[in-house]
Amino acid sequence: MGYEYETIKIQQEDDGVTWLILNRPDKRNAMSPQLHADCNDALYNLATDAKCRVLIVTGAGEAFCAGQDLRLFFRATDNAPRERFEAAENSHHWRWMRLSKFPKPTIAMVNGFCFGGAFTQLIACDLAVAADDAVFGLSEVNWGIIPGGIVSWNVVNAMNSRDAMFYAITGDPFDGKKAAQMGLVNYSVPKNELTEETLKLARKLAAKNPATVRYTKEGVRAVRGMSEAQAADYLAAKSDALRFRDSEKGREEAMKQFLDEKKFRPGLGNYVRDDAK
Ligand code: ACO
Repeated sequence: MGYEYETIKIQQEDDGVTWLILNRPDKRNAMSPQLHADCNDALYNLATDAKCRVLIVTGAGEAFCAGQDLRLFFRATDNAPRERFEAAENSHHWRWMRLSKFPKPTIAMVNGFCFGGAFTQLIACDLAVAADDAVFGLSEVNWGIIPGGIVSWNVVNAMNSRDAMFYAITGDPFDGKKAAQMGLVNYSVPKNELTEETLKLARKLAAKNPATVRYTKEGVRAVRGMSEAQAADYLAAKSDALRFRDSEKGREEAMKQFLDEKKFRPGLGNYVRDDAK
């Protein structure tokens, strides 16, 4: 099944990896109201598409995403409150609500410019890989606005407070290597290796038990705001829920392969999966 959109491209590989590519390269993939609507729709489709086991979010051409479209998202809706409201709702919905809770693992592949509002989808993704020379920036201060939406909240959660403040009030750009050093992305690689390295990571995730990966990522996100007692209770319930939810019964299969058949080492890799189960 193919998906057709005006401002984004969806590409699906045979091995479970799906690409969501912001596709306005001539505008450095700046986010227009149409792009927000397209992404929203696409994420509903992909969340429920069995062919999508891992999602990579990236941009066409030189940019990952140059932030909100100053012309179409801001100026064009300055005097159109309904259109502004709808665009803002869609914008928040796909970049944060849908993406941070996406039921499959997500990777931001930062191929180039990543500015302003683009930090929300960057941080919403579970993992991020950047080109060494990608250019990041909280550029809002340079043109008279604050890192709004939820960008300020995103950056204090993903960066240490000194770095978040420094880059928010100076607007200084930084590269992919610096982003990796700060922990804003998992790692950076030379641009010509970016796609291959990101695919390698995506395929590793696609090979794991899907229910376990989903419950793990949900658990890691959820416990952050909890007390120790809440986390212990939540994780116990989540573990039980996983045993009910896991249609391939990974825990039992892994026990059998390790304890009885002695054919895998859990510390060193995945148990042997049969997708047909
Ligand atoms: N909104 C609208 N249009 C944009 C945006 C944007 N955020 N970013 C780039 N474009 C458009 C340009 O207007 C230009 O369009 P045109 O060809 O019709 O004139 C086209 O994309 C190419 O942009 P250039 O500036 O010519 O490309 P260059 O490669 O030299 O620079 C860069 C790229 C650094 C990304 C520059 O365009 C830029 O600074 N853009 C703004 C980035 C920004 O501050 N984003 C944060 C927005 S605030 C927010 O997200 C809340």
